[in-house]
Amino acid sequence: MQTYKNRIEDTSLQLINYARVALYTVESFPILAIKKLLKANAPMDPMPPENHQKLLKQTLDGLIEQDIVNVRQGLYPRELLYPEKPQKHICRYKELLIDALKATLRQKNKKHKEFSEHTEPLLKDMPEYYKRNFHYQTDGYLSSKSAELYSHQTEILFKGTIALMRRVLMAELIRHIQARKTPVRILEIGGGAGEATEILLKSCPNIEVVFVEPSKPYMEFAKNKLSEFNNIEYVNDFFENYQSRKKFDVVFSSFLFHELPLEVRRTVFSKSSKLLKKNAISFHIDSLQLNDNQEFNWALIQFPKDFHEPFYANYIKTPLEELISNDLSFNSNQQAFLSKSVMALNL
Ligand SMILES: C[S@@+](CC[C@H](N)C(=O)[O-])C[C@H]1O[C@@H](n2cnc3c(N)ncnc32)[C@H](O)[C@@H]1O
Repeated sequence: MQTYKNRIEDTSLQLINYARVALYTVESFPILAIKKLLKANAPMDPMPPENHQKLLKQTLDGLIEQDIVNVRQGLYPRELLYPEKPQKHICRYKELLIDALKATLRQKNKKHKEFSEHTEPLLKDMPEYYKRNFHYQTDGYLSSKSAELYSHQTEILFKGTIALMRRVLMAELIRHIQARKTPVRILEIGGGAGEATEILLKSCPNIEVVFVEPSKPYMEFAKNKLSEFNNIEYVNDFFENYQSRKKFDVVFSSFLFHELPLEVRRTVFSKSSKLLKKNAISFHIDSLQLNDNQEFNWALIQFPKDFHEPFYANYIKTPLEELISNDLSFNSNQQAFLSKSVMALNL
């Protein structure tokens, strides 16, 4: 039986989630207006189904409900849902609007290889597939400003649901990790600004994380954000170059694969599966793929037309389930709104 106190706590978390969706949706309006004014977006084709608003709302309600259940079950702490300080948020939003204008001009003029002078040295020796303005964002992944704006930008893009999707999908992995009696060694590939890493570190006291990330500014940002934790080792490199003599209990990534060409996706799966101990887990979160949920196919087809995501069209046609089962025993998949997770075991 739920106590009165529990019900109040659950309702407050629910309200935080809905307020977040409302806030980021409102924040997306000026950006959509800039894109409309500059006629930057491609025409919608195919059109969303007539009932898509209702569908989105239903899916969102289910996701928020699951999030509260996960908190209640102790899978992750409630503090992960708390909003940041308003002043910090507003200051960042102002910068983000200026950046949205620059990104829209890049989109309009189909420019996706524009880097400022101070980021040029970082590009040296990087693979061609990475040297680009993903999402048309300024400096791609290669400036500290880009790292600062990343989380807020992606929340606006997904109308306040990206952190929610990550948490809800990660619950399955966290349940496995929490159940283990001995320390769990985790390899995170493409940790970015440390969004998923924070969830792992705050939910699982029994872990050691190796965080592999090729962008130095993003890695530094994550390091700063996660400075209270000493059970994390940072490696500034592409996963293709990563060497380790020790094996892992878990290999994990979040929103990595859709930004990799197919051959690199294959390399990441095969190389990472060789780094797993016996009975270890390979767990990955990313965008939905074609026909995972037919109702959302229109959104997946439209996305790479409006954002610089050159590998996405191939990504949605190449199921992660197939790639992961080349080397490991595919175990399960789950969906959360526009994202999914796949899990395989090294039996
Ligand atoms: C879309 S971001 C996702 C970041 C973070 N995991 C999250 O959930 O928000 C993709 C990240 O993968 C990193 N990345 C791209 N190619 C990589 C590679 N070959 N090896 C490791 N990381 C890579 C990028 O630098 C970027 O930080």
